[in-house]
Amino acid sequence: MSYPAWPEPVVNVVPAPGAHAAPQGDALEIWWSRVDVGNLADEVRVKLAADLDETRTAKIERYRRAQDRDRGLAAHSLLRRLLSAVTGTPPARLELGAFCISCGETGHGKPYLETADGVRPVEVNLSHSGEVVIVALAAPGTQLGVDVEQGRTVDWNALRSSIFADQEWAATQGHADREHRRLLTWARKESSVKASGHGLSLPLRHVVTADAEGVNWSASMPSGVGRAAGADLDLAPDVAAAVAVLRPDGWPDVPVVRQVPIG
Ligand SMILES: CC(C)(COP(=O)(O)OP(=O)(O)OC[C@H]1O[C@@H](n2cnc3c(N)ncnc32)[C@H](O)[C@@H]1OP(=O)(O)O)[C@@H](O)C(=O)NCCC(=O)NCCS
Repeated sequence: MSYPAWPEPVVNVVPAPGAHAAPQGDALEIWWSRVDVGNLADEVRVKLAADLDETRTAKIERYRRAQDRDRGLAAHSLLRRLLSAVTGTPPARLELGAFCISCGETGHGKPYLETADGVRPVEVNLSHSGEVVIVALAAPGTQLGVDVEQGRTVDWNALRSSIFADQEWAATQGHADREHRRLLTWARKESSVKASGHGLSLPLRHVVTADAEGVNWSASMPSGVGRAAGADLDLAPDVAAAVAVLRPDGWPDVPVVRQVPIG
């Protein structure tokens, strides 16, 4: 007797070191967590900090607010646990690089993981906002960006002209949930400039997004940067998030989204 094939269950824990294969082709994975920032138990903080390297720990210790320290600990622990799941290297022993496409320097800018012989086992990007930390994974060679916005009160009048193209602002005006739509548009744009690695050195108003089918959207970027193709991430009603990849046409697969506990 044969049994029907069931879809793979969505496993809501970060896999053990070496137990997870990097996404292939157009697949995208989203791993996220809601963190009680500012109120983590000390033993949880110690556990998360044990995943980091000295440079990151020192950077996080310099944050003045407990919320920022907890958010940083959670985000970078999640990032390193996932990279450990793909590579088998313990989280704290991973050597991450960073490259700033704007000034050409290493040491700041978009983070990446590369082995000593120059192989990238997986592409990764990270975002954190309010209580939410999120990590996106993609196949080696994919230029990937992710952005999340949560718990923000925004003075749109002050920010409108630096973020939105006129047609984007007009589209949000008529939207039933205007506030969420604006944050989502912002997240789309930021994920696009994070995919290219330029970050906010590319003015967001010059990154113009357009809805496509389903969760998909595209973003045209200044000449020489290319086109971003993205997907909205429906994580929770109070969270606006998007993931983007740089590609001249077409779309990535619909992202596989997993919420995981932190600690
Ligand atoms: C990167 C940037 C868009 C992040 O914006 P944000 O909304 O504050 O933060 P997010 O939580 O979404 O993302 C932060 C993470 O993005 C990643 N990141 C940093 N620079 C990046 C870049 N250029 N491209 C993609 N990802 C980047 C890091 O993992 C960072 O984590 P950390 O802040 O804990 O180190 C913004 O800080 C930026 O553009 N900075 C650089 C500006 C610049 O280029 N200056 C020129 C320097 S020469």
